[in-house]
Amino acid sequence: MDRIRIVGGNALNGIIPISGAKNAALPLMIASLLTSDTLTLENVPHLADVEGLIRILGNHGVDIAVNGRREHQDGSYSRTVHFTCRTVADTTAPYELVSKMRASFWVIGPLLAREGQARVSLPGGCAIGTRPVDLFIEGLTALGAEMEIDGGYINAKAPKGGLIGARYTFPKVSVGATHVMLMAASLARGTTVIGNAAREPEVVDLANCLNAMGAKISGAGTSTITIEGVTSLSGARHRVLPDRIETGTYAMAVAMTGGDVTLSGTDITLLDTAIEAIRRAGAEVSAVEGGIRVIGHGDQIRPVDIVTEPFPGFPTDLQAQFMGLMTRANGVSHVTETIFENRFMHVQELARLGAKITLSGQTARIEGVTRLRGAPVMATDLRASVSLVIGGLAAEGETMVSRVYHLDRGFERLEEKLTRCGAIVERISD
Ligand code: EPZ
Repeated sequence: MDRIRIVGGNALNGIIPISGAKNAALPLMIASLLTSDTLTLENVPHLADVEGLIRILGNHGVDIAVNGRREHQDGSYSRTVHFTCRTVADTTAPYELVSKMRASFWVIGPLLAREGQARVSLPGGCAIGTRPVDLFIEGLTALGAEMEIDGGYINAKAPKGGLIGARYTFPKVSVGATHVMLMAASLARGTTVIGNAAREPEVVDLANCLNAMGAKISGAGTSTITIEGVTSLSGARHRVLPDRIETGTYAMAVAMTGGDVTLSGTDITLLDTAIEAIRRAGAEVSAVEGGIRVIGHGDQIRPVDIVTEPFPGFPTDLQAQFMGLMTRANGVSHVTETIFENRFMHVQELARLGAKITLSGQTARIEGVTRLRGAPVMATDLRASVSLVIGGLAAEGETMVSRVYHLDRGFERLEEKLTRCGAIVERISD
C-alpha cells in the first residue's frame, strides 16, 4: 500500500492547477444513462472514484472512450471522456460495486426514469456516518415509483407509462437525493417541483448539463427547483466545473505554511464562505485572472470558529482541512460539524502531530500550538487524510501518511502539485 512522506517546514510558492470537481463529475457521468446519445464531458479528473464509476457504468451498458491526455503548460491534464449508453444492459447495481462508492447508488434515478425499473444495492454504512437513503425513497415514491427493500436491495418500479411529475419537499437537504430527483424528474410526465433542494454548485452543474441534453430545469442553485418532464434526452458536451474542495484545501495549505500560490482554473465564487474563513484566519485571498491568489503568513494564524452547513454555508468537505489550519492558530477555535455525525476521525491523527483538540459532541475545541512535529499518521477518509497532509506540510520533520488510497479517491496528483510549489512530498510504493 502506498504511503506519502512529507518533510514539513517549506513555504508554498507557485501555481497549482485545480482539477475538475469529483463531486460534479460523478453525477454528470451517471446522467449519461438517461440518453442513447453520447454525453461528452470535458475536464474530467483522473481519480480512483471516477475510474470506479467508469467500471460501474460499464456494467450498465455505457461505452466509454477517453481522449488522449493533453498536458497544458501549467501542468494540468484535461481529460475529455465520451459516454454512450445505446441500450441499458443491466438495471441491477450489485452490492460488490455500490458498496465501494456511495455515489453509485445514484444510478437508481436514471435507470428508473429510462427503463421503468431498477434494482440497486443499499450502499450501507460509511466511515463518516450512517448516511441513510430514506430521502431517495421518499422522493422517488412521490414521482409514483414503487420502492421496496428486499435482501439488501431497493427494487424500484415506475408506474406504467413512466414516472409522474409531482411536488416534493425534502425534510432535510441532501445533495445526492437532489441529483437523483433532477435526473428522474427530467424524464417524468408533467412538472416536478422540488422544495428544500440542495443548492451546491455541483447541483447547478448537473442541471446545466441536463438542460444541454434537452431537459427543462429552472431554479437550480435555489431551494426550489422546477423540472418540466420531457420524453427523451439527447447527447451534449459539457465541461465539469472546477473542484471547490480541492481549491479550498490548497488555499488552507498555503495559509498554514505561508507562501504565495495561484490556484489556476478555479473560481472564487464557488466557495465564498470558506474563503471568508481563510481570510479571517489571516491569509490574503484575491480573485485573479483565471483563478485565485493566496498569500499565507504561516505563523500568524488567527483562531476562527466555523460551523458546517449545506451550501452556501461552510462545506463539511473542508472541515478537516480547516481544523488542520486551526491547530497552529494563536488561540482557541471551535469547529462544529452538523452534516455528518462521525466526521472527526482526523482529530486523533492530528493529535499525533502535536495538535491539542478536545471533542464535545459535534464540536471540536482546538487550542492552537506554536509548532507541530512530524509523525506517522493514518488516513481514515478522503478529506481527513488531506488534513494530515496539510498538518505535515507545516510540521517540523517527517510525517508519513499511510493508507493514501483514500487521498487518491479525490485529489488528482496531489504530491506532484505540492512538489512543484516547493514542498517536500513523495509517494512511497511498497
Ligand atoms: C455529497 O454526499 C458529497 N458526495 C459528499 O462529499 C459531501 O460531504 C456531501 O454531499 C455533503 O455536502 C458527492 O457529491 C459524491 P448528502 P451525499 O445526501 O450526497 C443525510 C467527499 O468527501 N441523508 O447531502 O451522500 C446524510 O446522512 C464526500 O467528497 C439522509 O438522512 O450527502 C447527511 O447527514 C463525502 N437521508 C446529510 O443528509 C438520505 O436519504 C447530507 O448528505 C440522504 C442523506
